[in-house]
Amino acid sequence: MAAKRLVVLVSGSGTNLQALLDAIEAEGPDTYGARVVAVGADRDGIAGLDRARAAGLPTFVCRVPDHADRAGWDAALTEATAEYRPDLVVSAGFMKIVGKAFLARFGGRIVNTHPALLPSFPGAHGVRDALAYGAKVTGCTVHFVDDGVDTGPIIAQRAVEVVEEDTREGAAALHERIKDVERRLLVEVVGRLARDGYRIEGRKVLIP
Ligand code: GRF
Repeated sequence: MAAKRLVVLVSGSGTNLQALLDAIEAEGPDTYGARVVAVGADRDGIAGLDRARAAGLPTFVCRVPDHADRAGWDAALTEATAEYRPDLVVSAGFMKIVGKAFLARFGGRIVNTHPALLPSFPGAHGVRDALAYGAKVTGCTVHFVDDGVDTGPIIAQRAVEVVEEDTREGAAALHERIKDVERRLLVEVVGRLARDGYRIEGRKVLIP
């Protein structure tokens, strides 16, 4: 079966994108089941875009301030993404909530990775919030995107322990440990979805 087409959306360092690119390169797109056809971002000047260019991939940038309103931005992001005819869109550290147009076009095909065990600690500060709450175990969640904030059907999760030093040293070290696990989980999940297909039944994601 032909490798599935992935458009990856990023906002930052792009290490999750890099993990996907490395896995695809190591296994080959046909064995892995997918290849990245383009990388999109909501801002310029980020390492994630440099990684995409270094891999020879086309990139696009849709910045909210370049549009009259949020709906205009969402429509532009939808068009830019659609140009690459993705089978799956992977939101890998993309720090924007997509809107109605994007969901109408790609709903059920948008995978997001979140650095906490949803439904605990949704939103932009999942690591910091888990630490502030005093959680002893946190982790990461790969899920489908719906119209809420980190509320879509969960595909897979992995736990990471919070250790004493995290409380003293803040969220950065904990986030790095989570990202280490998160990258591997994302690579695993995207590969399985691409190779095996899936069904979403209510809140359940079924991979044969
Ligand atoms: C990840 O932990 C992601 O879940 C969070 O931001 C981080 C992105 O890291 N929203 P990177 O840009 O892939 O390195």
